[in-house]
Order: sequence, then C-alpha cells, then structure tokens
Amino acid sequence: MMQRVIVLTGAGRGIGLAAARRFALAGDLLVLNDVKFSDEALALETTAREYGGDVIFLAGDVSDPSEVTTLVATAEGRHGRVDVLVNNAGVLLSKPTIETTMEDWIRIISINLTGTWNCLHAVLPGMVARRAGRIINVSSELGLIGFPTYAAYCASKGGVIAMTKALAKEVAPLGVLVNSVAPGPIETDMLKFDTIEFNDETREQIPLRRFGQPDEIAAAIEFLAGPGGSYMVGQILSPNGGTAI
Ligand SMILES: NC(=O)c1ccc[n+]([C@@H]2O[C@H](COP(=O)([O-])OP(=O)(O)OC[C@H]3O[C@@H](n4cnc5c(N)ncnc54)[C@H](OP(=O)(O)O)[C@@H]3O)[C@@H](O)[C@H]2O)c1
Repeated sequence: MMQRVIVLTGAGRGIGLAAARRFALAGDLLVLNDVKFSDEALALETTAREYGGDVIFLAGDVSDPSEVTTLVATAEGRHGRVDVLVNNAGVLLSKPTIETTMEDWIRIISINLTGTWNCLHAVLPGMVARRAGRIINVSSELGLIGFPTYAAYCASKGGVIAMTKALAKEVAPLGVLVNSVAPGPIETDMLKFDTIEFNDETREQIPLRRFGQPDEIAAAIEFLAGPGGSYMVGQILSPNGGTAI
C-alpha cells in the first residue's frame, strides 16, 4: 500500500497521540501539530522510522490561520500532498453558562470550530486538485446530545458536526471524503483535569459501565482514513459505550 501523508492536529497526548501511533505503526508519513509535544509523542519518531515511515513535529496553534498554513505547506513541501487530515486539537470548558465569559466563548469557538475550519480550508485546494483526500473531524457526542454547563463546548462541536455534513456533500463529488468521529467520555487528560462530572456516578450511566480509552477512538479514526472508509461520506461515527443511543 502507498504510504499516506497524514496531517494530524493535537497529537501531543490523548486521542491525537493514540491516532498518530496507529498511523506510525502503519508506516505512514506523519506531519503532527500540537501546541507542545510530550516525550511520548516525540518517541513516535523512533516508531515511525522502525515501520518505514516518517514524522515531522510542528508546534503551532490551530486557531491561528498563518500557523496552519505553515503546517500544511510543510506537509505539501516535504511530501507533495496531504492524503488525510485529522482535525483533533480541541479544548474543553465546563462552566455554568451564566459564568461563561466572552473570552471563554471566543477561546472555545476559535480552537474547536475555527481551528477545524482553518485546517480543512488549508488542505482542500490540494485534495480537490488531486480528486482525492480524507478529512476526519473529531467532534463529540456532546455536540449531538448537549450537556449542562457545556453550552460553549457543545456549540463548537455541534458546529463541527454541521460543517462536516455540509462539506461532505460539497466535496464528495470532487473525490474528498469528509466524516467526523464523535467520542463519548474518554480517559484522557481533558477528562481527568477539566471536569467534575466524570466520576463513578457518570460511569454507571454508561451502558458499557466504563470510560473509553484513547486508542478506541484512534481505531475509528484509522477506519475512516483507511480502505474500509471508502464509502463513508458525512457520517458522524460515535464510539461512546452507548451513552448517546
Ligand atoms: N476525552 C474525551 O472525553 C473527549 C470526548 C469527546 C471529544 N473529545 C475531543 O477529542 C479531541 C482530543 O481530546 P483529548 O481528550 O485527547 O484531549 P487532550 O488530552 O486534552 O488532548 C488535546 C490535545 O490538543 C492540543 N491542543 C489544544 N489546543 C490546541 C491548539 N489551539 N492548537 C493545537 N493543539 C491544541 C492539546 O495541547 P496541550 O497539550 O498544549 O494542551 C492536547 O495535546 C478534542 O477535540 C476533544 O474535544 C474528547
């Protein structure tokens, strides 16, 4: 199989790191973004080499269009194309809506929604010109069902879901497949440090009675990026242990 050129954002830890690891094990050519990279992420260089691939780490903020332009230009400059974009970078906010400031709102929307827009906007010209490409937007089940104290986050992820559907219809005829993965509650730093809702009580409300692992989301991302995803268009794939049935 031809090596794929993969641009993946928020690859420093959590779901993004798990997805990057799967692509490294497949011998792909990775161009990874994050604000900063953990040692675990940097260790992917050895894995990528071992499996015949390559990895470039590029620190940058997805909400800044010029940094995203640099990211995509680096991938296209080094490898000539981008085959797969995984829009994974995101931040969470759990706060009563009355206490949510304009600054909070702008931060969440800028990173989660505008950041996703910036990246897909940057890769689309190349993908459309080649009549090939996959875009996978990581949204959230909370963008589908809503959750108290998450209004800004839900708005950003609901926006990603709506954008995925619209763009999928627009560019599928041009050979570009756009889909979303909408995870349920996954055991990452985001969940551990930012919320008080994810406790034993919440666990009991999950039909599978456990939180998900980052690699269980990475598996869905890998599926949409791979041969099995060839007829998936505008779908919101939601590995969530049954929370959003
Ligand atoms: N965990 C869950 O339960 C869950 C559920 C549904 C959806 N999601 C979504 O899944 C995605 C990954 O989340 P996660 O759980 O893996 O969270 P995480 O462990 O907090 O990882 C998110 C990564 O994104 C990076 N990031 C944040 N802002 C960025 C920016 N402006 N530009 C570039 N990178 C940025 C973070 O960098 P730093 O290390 O610098 O902070 C971090 O490495 C997010 O979009 C999240 O909304 C997560």
